[in-house]
Amino acid sequence: MKRVFSGVQPTSQIHIGNYIGAIKRFVELQNDMDCFFCIVDLHSVTVPQNPKELYKNSLQLAALYMAVGLDPSKVTLFIQSHVPAHSELAWLLQCNSYMGELNRMTQFKEKSLGKDTVTTGLYTYPVLMAADILLYDTHFVPVGNDQKQHLELCRDISIRFNKKYGETFIVPEPLISKFGARIMSLDDATNKMSKSNENKHSKINLLDSPSKIKKSIMKAVTDSESEVRFDVENKPGVSNLMTIYNILGDLPLEDIENKYEGLGYGAFKKDLVEIVVSGLEPIQSKYEEILASGEVEKVLKEGADRAREVSNEVLNSVKKKMGFVIL
Ligand code: TYM
Repeated sequence: MKRVFSGVQPTSQIHIGNYIGAIKRFVELQNDMDCFFCIVDLHSVTVPQNPKELYKNSLQLAALYMAVGLDPSKVTLFIQSHVPAHSELAWLLQCNSYMGELNRMTQFKEKSLGKDTVTTGLYTYPVLMAADILLYDTHFVPVGNDQKQHLELCRDISIRFNKKYGETFIVPEPLISKFGARIMSLDDATNKMSKSNENKHSKINLLDSPSKIKKSIMKAVTDSESEVRFDVENKPGVSNLMTIYNILGDLPLEDIENKYEGLGYGAFKKDLVEIVVSGLEPIQSKYEEILASGEVEKVLKEGADRAREVSNEVLNSVKKKMGFVIL
């Protein structure tokens, strides 16, 4: 069975960009592949975190993973910091990657822009991500478009390591959807929807109330026309809303255009509110059920046990190849 690995940071709330671009794919893959889905808390601390929030968000993300439909009897769900091999391999890979290639990472440039100080962890973040992936003999990595460059680096590191020390790592392939891999911000359709945007109406979180969802969608930027038409270049705001409508409402773009011909943005947005609210409602009620059941910790413990078992094998083979003494 082919292996899949992916991760989501437990920082603040998870939004529909994360869901459409990545998590929804996780659910689709779980029946056909051996999947490892991780709560990447070590990545979160590359920027300042409130410890209490990080703790709460990590457990909430685990509950959310299950609420969207990930089945712990089919997939391995775990917290990254529960598996020390991630940090250990990250160090070994840091000693096999170059400052020149990390200097090119656009996400590092964006995240460090205008900051007085930046942690070295933020700089080496993509190498930890490569370690996450390579530790599980991963074939496929479902991610949104913003992780493409990190995946390319991961491939480069694995190919280089294999050349230097002999076949060790499987070179992973990114799984990036042709459509929906970059959901844009609702307040500015030229930027991606992002957890770090302080305007709460720039995004829709999976746990948002119906009234908040309604407000955010009704406020979402469109354009001065009134035609519901998919045209990313000239109508980025409307096209972004249509993408969400298409994926959550399961209606082809052409049908959406026909349905709202002559009706304007008001009717379109009103229906989109309905679609998003009814799409998130089952996730939200399942989420509450899972949190109340107290099963999250048990699932995470079992997940970490399996993840440790699989990753230790790969880590040991790496250490052997590099010449470390293993007793
Ligand atoms: P993170 O936590 O920022 O995002 C989680 C996933 O959501 C995708 N995503 C989006 N997709 C579509 N539209 C958007 N606006 C949008 N915003 C985010 C991301 O591409 C991602 O797939 N570095 C990663 C976490 C990570 C990881 C890994 C992923 C750590 N180790 C190993 C894969 C494999 C990150 O910060 O994701």
